[in-house]
Amino acid sequence: MVLAALSGALDTALDRTVVPGFSKIGYAVRRRLPSWPADPRPGSLVGKHVVVTGATSGLGTATAHQLSDLGAHVHLVVRNADKAEKVARELTGPSTTWVCDLGDLDSVRACAEAMLADAPPIDAIVHNAGAMPPERTESPQGHELSMSIHVLGPVLLTDLLLPKLEGHDARVVLVTSGGMYAQALPVDDPDYERGDYAPATAYARSKRTQVELLPVLTVRWAAAGIAVYVMHPGWAATPGVTESLPTFDKVMGPILRDADEGADTSTWLVAASPRPRGGGLWMDRRERSTSFFGRNSPTSDERRRMWQWVASATGLTP
Ligand SMILES: NC(=O)c1ccc[n+]([C@@H]2O[C@H](COP(=O)([O-])OP(=O)(O)OC[C@H]3O[C@@H](n4cnc5c(N)ncnc54)[C@H](OP(=O)(O)O)[C@@H]3O)[C@@H](O)[C@H]2O)c1
Repeated sequence: MVLAALSGALDTALDRTVVPGFSKIGYAVRRRLPSWPADPRPGSLVGKHVVVTGATSGLGTATAHQLSDLGAHVHLVVRNADKAEKVARELTGPSTTWVCDLGDLDSVRACAEAMLADAPPIDAIVHNAGAMPPERTESPQGHELSMSIHVLGPVLLTDLLLPKLEGHDARVVLVTSGGMYAQALPVDDPDYERGDYAPATAYARSKRTQVELLPVLTVRWAAAGIAVYVMHPGWAATPGVTESLPTFDKVMGPILRDADEGADTSTWLVAASPRPRGGGLWMDRRERSTSFFGRNSPTSDERRRMWQWVASATGLTP
């Protein structure tokens, strides 16, 4: 009992001090705590079909490998089929590639249509695809691109795929970022039309939006029996970090996690038995607070307005 309380306190302290908690130090310490949940059983995903978006680089590739090693048939949802072919060749199990630009809602609709026609029932989706556009960029539908890739595309894709997900305890994981702690929900300016554009701000606002939609999406998809999670991977060395955050990469390089450590909680949420409780933000296999000391927590009315904007942008019934 005392040991569990101490290990919980140490884990929370790592969270609040950010740098140790988000780096490989946090992962290494937490893995040794008695409270660290067991690894998924070998073969636990045999016969399961799991979708991973953005599987052609960094955390997405690592997630695809981990799921494949556990026996899953991995569905690589990617914008570049040639890159996916290389990933597929190196997986230990079967895979199928689907082409989809998550930042383009027409492409998302076309991909969902193809999957509805040809894919088997889907047991889980890991919405991992991500980007930090260096300049303010609009999607073909006129939405700010970070918001489009991290929020609009994943919500629409999941909603369209409900017939493939419902009725078998499916799991949906949205990969967010610890950067969201620093930003409020951009309810008055979801497309970042006001003020000077800053890539990290746009990115973090869209990641905050993923987190704050969690209660809405949990209720929306509950009738289909889906558990929804948002996870953040800490800070991991990936091509995305090197390209988008070169200074951060240089300074923090020695203590960044590797891609497998960053992908660990996504894989665990998909494979853990029994299914972890849905509706929360997870990091390092534990549910976390969505704000530090209540900072940047929206009101329920702000959440509702944000959801109405997402529903209207994607053409979904709120
Ligand atoms: N690494 C970290 O420390 C860290 C921290 C917090 C959160 N995250 C999140 O983790 C996820 C993976 O990041 P990463 O570091 O592995 O980045 P990465 O190496 O840049 O990989 C990003 C992946 O997303 C794909 N992608 C980008 N835009 C897309 C679009 N419009 N449609 C479809 N796919 C698209 C990329 O495809 P291409 O290969 O074609 O470019 C690539 O496969 C992201 O959501 C990121 O925000 C990462």
